[in-house]
Amino acid sequence: MGALEVNGKEFKLSLPAEDIQQIVDDMAVRMNADLAGHNPLFVAVLNGAFMFAGDLMKRMKIDCEISFVKMASYEGTSSSGDVKTLLGLDVDVEDRLVVILEDIIDSGLTLEALVNELSKLKPKELKVAVLLLKPDAYSNAVEIDYVGKEVSNEFLIGYGLDYNGRGRNLEDIYILTNEEIPITEF
Ligand code: IMP
Ligand code: MG
Repeated sequence: MGALEVNGKEFKLSLPAEDIQQIVDDMAVRMNADLAGHNPLFVAVLNGAFMFAGDLMKRMKIDCEISFVKMASYEGTSSSGDVKTLLGLDVDVEDRLVVILEDIIDSGLTLEALVNELSKLKPKELKVAVLLLKPDAYSNAVEIDYVGKEVSNEFLIGYGLDYNGRGRNLEDIYILTNEEIPITEF
């Protein structure tokens, strides 16, 4: 039940939409309390974080702003290790409380690259919020302030997460089953 085929690979349901919404709810409650009066600037990392950022922003009841950067390191189902900044920031970060919004942290290379770039722009404080964290893969010193949920070191799609561009639109999160789907020739 709940199986899905994307680009010839099989995925099964891992985190239903209701659970994701509860995770985002809980994070928003914490942020509304912690960040009130600081006018935080949320910086969401495209493409993957667009749904998380959208749902989170709808729940922010404090004075805040959001902007976007675009970074990419993944090819297929693993990190290429080479992080590219594809679209830079268009707002002034100096003296702002900046909260990076990421969909998922794996090796942490994407986060590290972004933290390095943003730090040069002299924010007052830099915080990190992530929907999903793979603690077994993460090997980085950057502290993560808000973690929605820790997940195993496996490949996920849905709710913004993609496999070669596919699956971002799914409202649930699915996990790769490692069962190759036989190619049927007609
Ligand atoms: P990192 O640089 O290895 O931490 O990888 C982080 C980025 O790779 C995330 O922002 C995602 O866009 C992507 N990514 C990491 N794990 C997954 C996954 O399981 N599914 C889809 N994308 C992923
Ligand atoms: Mg991403």
